[in-house]
Amino acid sequence: MAIHSNLISLLFLATAITILTISPPTSAATRRPQFNVVRFGARPDGRTDSTRAFLTAWTRACGSRVRVIMLVPKGRFLVRNMQFTGPCKNRSIFVRILGTIVAPNNIWTTGNSPHWIEFHRVDGVTISGGVLDGKGAALWACKKAGRSNFCHNVKLQGVRISAPGNSPNTDGIHVQFSTAVSIVSSKIATGDDCVSIGPGTANMLVDKVTCGPGHGISIGSLGKDVNEQGVQNVTVRSTTFVGTTNGFRIKAWGKPSNGFARNILFQHATMYNVQNPIFIDQRYCPDRNCADQVKKKKKVTHFFCVFFCYA
Ligand SMILES: *[C@@H]1O[C@H](CO)[C@@H](O)[C@H](O)[C@H]1NC(C)=O
Ligand SMILES: *[C@@H]1O[C@H](CO)[C@@H](O)[C@H](O)[C@H]1NC(C)=O
Repeated sequence: MAIHSNLISLLFLATAITILTISPPTSAATRRPQFNVVRFGARPDGRTDSTRAFLTAWTRACGSRVRVIMLVPKGRFLVRNMQFTGPCKNRSIFVRILGTIVAPNNIWTTGNSPHWIEFHRVDGVTISGGVLDGKGAALWACKKAGRSNFCHNVKLQGVRISAPGNSPNTDGIHVQFSTAVSIVSSKIATGDDCVSIGPGTANMLVDKVTCGPGHGISIGSLGKDVNEQGVQNVTVRSTTFVGTTNGFRIKAWGKPSNGFARNILFQHATMYNVQNPIFIDQRYCPDRNCADQVKKKKKVTHFFCVFFCYA
C-alpha cells in the first residue's frame, strides 16, 4: 500500500466505482436535501470517533429515493475504516465535504480492511471538496522504526481450512513480507491456492500439507511491481495434492520487475488427479488483460535455483 501524500490519502476500490467525479459543488446540488453527519452524532473535534455517524448518514442518504447530499460540514472528523456500500436508491448521490476527514494514527496497522474509505457498488457518486488526512506520517514513522506489520517466526501446525472448490479467490493461507514462517501437518481445501507465497517471503517451510480441492501451492504472483522484494529459500515437502488444478506452481506477471524467486525446493509430493503437477508461468494473466507484459529481453521476474524432486 502506498501513501503518496501526508495530507491526502484515499484508497478507493476502483473497480467498484462506475462514475466518480471530484468537482466543485454546483448550485443545483446545493438545493438537494442534506444528510449532515453532525445530525447523526459526528463531532467536529478531531478526537471523537465519528465512524458510526458517517455510516448512518450514508445509509440514510443512500436509501433516499430522491437525490440528496451527504454533508460533512466544517471541522475535523476522526473516522476509522469505512465502507460506503451501494447500490443506492436514486443512482445519483453527492458527498460534499467542507471540513477535514482524519484517519486515526494507527489506521494502517489495525484496520480490518486495507482501505480507509471505500465506496463499494455505488454508481453515480460525486465527491466534492474537503481534505482527507490519511495520517501517512504515522505509518512512515512506524515503518522507519521497523515496526511494520510483517511476520517473523510463525508456526502454523494442524490447521484445517475448508472452503468449497468453486468458491472464488479463496486462498487458504497467504504469506508475504514475512520470514521464517512454517506451515506443517495441515489440511487445506479451497477454491484458489491452498498456500500462496507472495513477495518478500524468505526461509519458509511447508511440510506435510494436504491440498485439495484448490489451485495448488503457489509462489506468486510475482513481478506485479517494478520494485519488488523477492521470494527466497522456500521448501515445500511431503505434500499431498488431491483433485487440484495445479500441484507446485510459480507465477509471475511478465512485467518489468526486479522481483525474483530463488532457492526454491519442492520435494516428496504425492499427487492424485492433478491437472498440472508442475506449472511455471512467467506470463501469468488470469484476466486476459495484460497489455503491459513485456515482449522480450527486458528484465522480468527471474526464477533461480528451483528444484523439483520426487522421492
Ligand atoms: C432521483 O431523484 C430525483 C429528484 O431529486 C428524481 O427526479 C429522479 O427521478 C430520481 N431518480 C431515480 C432513479 O429514482
Ligand atoms: C532456509 O529456511 C529454513 C526454514 O525453512 C531455515 O531453517 C534455514 O536456515 C534457511 N536457510 C538459510 C540459508 O537462511
